[in-house]
Amino acid sequence: MAMPTLGILGSGTGSNMQAILDAIEAGELEARIALVLSDNPNAAILERAREKGIRAEVIDCRGHLMKFPEEAQQEMARRLRDAGVDLVCLAGFMRLVKRPLLDAFPSRILNIHPSLLPAFPGLEAWRQALEAGVLESGATVHLVDAGMDTGPILGQERVSVFPDDTPQTLHARIQLAEHRLYPEMIGRYAAQLNP
Ligand code: GAR
Repeated sequence: MAMPTLGILGSGTGSNMQAILDAIEAGELEARIALVLSDNPNAAILERAREKGIRAEVIDCRGHLMKFPEEAQQEMARRLRDAGVDLVCLAGFMRLVKRPLLDAFPSRILNIHPSLLPAFPGLEAWRQALEAGVLESGATVHLVDAGMDTGPILGQERVSVFPDDTPQTLHARIQLAEHRLYPEMIGRYAAQLNP
């Protein structure tokens, strides 16, 4: 696929979305971001996208804090399809994606996770790594399946853990790796897909 159209899903700051956009603008990633969707109306990712002229919308999860209701997933799939999205990139999206969305984009949903999977799936993986006392952690890009951070791994970057690290310093170092890894893996994965 020469020039994939991306849809980005995020719940937070949006630094990975920004890294993808920067790579596109620098000519390092041949892609276009058509739509950014968030389950959190206050997420900075929405404002960040709009400042760059990218369509950014909220998906109403009907007051559920963690659950990703089926209707919300159907609505998300519809909006992504209508926007002509080829690849869906989760970038700090904090709900578990299930069938309605997975079926709409089979093998077309990617995620970035802040650990060397399969180690430390789930929330605050950088904190889990510190608590486990590992000397190395990192970032993983993988395809999304119905499990929690369990899909096939596309690529990883290693990051050292230092004795004086706090959750914040380790997460910041992992994020630098994420920002290099994610655009590169999106480009590589898209290149091996049929048009
Ligand atoms: C990133 O570190 C990402 O790996 C993590 O959330 C952060 C979002 O940052 N995702 C997960 O933990 C998903 N399990 P961002 O909004 O600045 O891209």
